[in-house]
Amino acid sequence: MGLNIRGRSFLTLLDYTTDEINYLLDLSADLKKLKYTGTPHRYLEGKNIVLLFEKTSTRTRCSFEVAGYDLGMGVTYLDPGSSQMGKKESLRDTAMVLGRLYDGIEYRGFKQSVVEDLAKYSGVPVYNGLTDDFHPTQMLADVLTIKEEFGNVRGRKLVFFGDARNNVANSLMVVSAKLGMHYVACAPQELMPAKELVEKCRKIAEETGAVIELESDVKKAATDADVLYTDIWVSMGEPDELWAKRIELLHPYQVNQKVMSYAKKEAIFMHCLPSFHDRQTIVGKEIYQKFGLEAMEVTDDVIYGPQGRAFQEAENRMHTIKAVLYATLK
Ligand code: CP
Ligand code: NVA
Repeated sequence: MGLNIRGRSFLTLLDYTTDEINYLLDLSADLKKLKYTGTPHRYLEGKNIVLLFEKTSTRTRCSFEVAGYDLGMGVTYLDPGSSQMGKKESLRDTAMVLGRLYDGIEYRGFKQSVVEDLAKYSGVPVYNGLTDDFHPTQMLADVLTIKEEFGNVRGRKLVFFGDARNNVANSLMVVSAKLGMHYVACAPQELMPAKELVEKCRKIAEETGAVIELESDVKKAATDADVLYTDIWVSMGEPDELWAKRIELLHPYQVNQKVMSYAKKEAIFMHCLPSFHDRQTIVGKEIYQKFGLEAMEVTDDVIYGPQGRAFQEAENRMHTIKAVLYATLK
């Protein structure tokens, strides 16, 4: 099998074939081994990337930085508000400048069209570090984690509980379709994924054997699940006024021990993080004061419990992002 994704952007997994995704996953596992054995892998010495963030980040930023340094690259971080982009300089001009200085550009922000335009005008690979629509680098880390747990992903039942039309849920549906998984969006009707994306994924599923299901009943959805996944109820960029409505809609979709008990005995819990599972954050405290909730999308005993894999998943962001950088820039 010959695969070559050199020079390609990574904007959404809809652009990648099943074989290409599996290639990136295999490469991630290889790079993880090199890291664990302390084997140097400065394969991209002399190359440089810029990380352009219009929303905040811990994992994505740090993963791109560490992956870049491990590969011997130069890395520049531009934080929200510190570049000219959008205020004094158009997206097109910014892309044309960055493309002349850097070998690759990571972008986190709002519209999906921004990463697409950056790719169009910069002439170098652009990596989507999260937009309102998709979070593709997160998916490689998630699938690597599932593979590490079960050895395979085909046919595995992954249930997403919560805002099933957010960037992470959309991307989970796409990657599940591409890899032949059984994906269930478990949400109230108002927060089900867009019809157009569901149709696209079901079309892909016809080829791969995946199953794409929408189910509002928590018990039905969780029964026999291999992976239970959730994300915050209000995503970055959405107004704070949404909290009250989302809490009302999504409180029944909280992943707690009862929900875990419906799943397979060996099921795991995953979360892209950050997560509101306690009162140790400013938002968590405010929500407790206003609504009396100790935890939101997941309880402490689940995320820290024996089935929780969110922190392994977070580490895997770095190994998988490294694979994307290596494969596209080598
Ligand atoms: N999961 C994730 O993307 O985390 P950050 O927002 O910290 O990058
Ligand atoms: N849906 C979340 C994901 C964070 C990694 C957000 O967009 O804020």
